Amino acid sequence: MKLTSHQNMKIFIFLLLSSHFAFSVKHSLKYISTASSGLPDFPEFVVAAVVDDNLVAFCNGNKKIIDLKHDWVKKVLEDDPHQLELYKGLCFQWEPTFFKAEINGLTQRFNQSGGVHILQRISGCEWDDETGEIVGFNQFGYDGEDFISIDLKTETWIAPKPEAVITKLGWDADKARMKYNQNYLTVIYPEWLKKYVDYGRSFLLRTELPSVSLLQKTPSSPVSCLATGFYPHRASLVWRKDGEELHEEVDHGEILPNHNGTFQMSVDLNLSSVTPEDWTRYDCVFQLSGVKEEIITKLEKDRIRTNWVKPSNMTVLVTAAVVVLVLILSGAAGFIDYNKKKAITPPSSPDNSTELSEQLNPET
Ligand SMILES: *[C@@H]1O[C@H](CO)[C@@H](O)[C@H](O)[C@H]1NC(C)=O
Ligand SMILES: *[C@@H]1O[C@H](CO)[C@@H](O)[C@H](O)[C@H]1NC(C)=O
Ligand SMILES: *[C@@H]1O[C@H](CO)[C@@H](O)[C@H](O)[C@H]1NC(C)=O
Repeated sequence: MKLTSHQNMKIFIFLLLSSHFAFSVKHSLKYISTASSGLPDFPEFVVAAVVDDNLVAFCNGNKKIIDLKHDWVKKVLEDDPHQLELYKGLCFQWEPTFFKAEINGLTQRFNQSGGVHILQRISGCEWDDETGEIVGFNQFGYDGEDFISIDLKTETWIAPKPEAVITKLGWDADKARMKYNQNYLTVIYPEWLKKYVDYGRSFLLRTELPSVSLLQKTPSSPVSCLATGFYPHRASLVWRKDGEELHEEVDHGEILPNHNGTFQMSVDLNLSSVTPEDWTRYDCVFQLSGVKEEIITKLEKDRIRTNWVKPSNMTVLVTAAVVVLVLILSGAAGFIDYNKKKAITPPSSPDNSTELSEQLNPET
């Protein structure tokens, strides 16, 4: 088919528009509150403030410490002392009491005695700086599963579990609670978020490329291609054979956070039925969203590092820290079985996981 110049123009405009949309960025502000019982080494109540998947502030309700992570975050709060006061009040006074009472109520409702229990809430908003659209969210998870979440359209609470129905009925009847939530999620949080984006633009919109390595536990294990140190967390990592992306015999890991604000991800390739001569046909390709350059790593015996890390006694603490981290990442997507999540530690830095938990459990 021959295109008229008019049609050509249409396509041209369409392309312009699509490349424009490709740069439109959705920003988000999330407050992730975590209350725990039965974890002696983990604070009973913490709140992480997260902008676009960057931890910007962290507070420990027991120690009454607020840790602001960047100078531009300090600036935002200096210009808006009301916000800091609210954050302090929330983290140090009202919420620890509320969460503690809720956990007590829930352990009874679930007929649980003792043990480790975790109640979490993610509240916040998402803002599309292209269309101006704002979406507010507020949801609770108990012991790693969805418990109750707000539906701003119908002005009711959604209770996926029978144990949450009592809570739902009580909160549905509480019109003041609904109005309070609406105001925060759709008016106040978006104002704060716009300010964070304004002050932190160069940090939030930066790109960092990862280092990519090949790891293998034992000679018969799959070969894992690990990309670590990238930002933002929109990225792809694939195995190719003769330049074609593989879908069978590969196992994609999830994107996990590093302790320094970057991310890591891995993809495993099962080589059990590949002959050594065929290895050269495989490569692993990393690409960051919005960045043309690809990082290509060829499958070669000499490049593979072995990844044996001896188990440590930090497991419980690390698991708790990973809960918070995983939630920071999972965002509004729901609550996740945290027992499965553990960041891969490259052999060159075997103590990363310890740093992770220290980072989240600031002692200073
Ligand atoms: C908890 O125990 C009570 C009484 O033993 C029982 O009626 C109820 O069904 C139990 N609830 C759950 C969630 O197991
Ligand atoms: C962040 O940490 C990762 C993993 O430890 C490391 O590979 C990367 O180089 C670090 N990036 C920066 C900017 O420090
Ligand atoms: C790799 O593939 C083989 C069959 O080709 C299978 O028997 C084996 O279980 C797989 N290994 C893993 C770790 O998935």
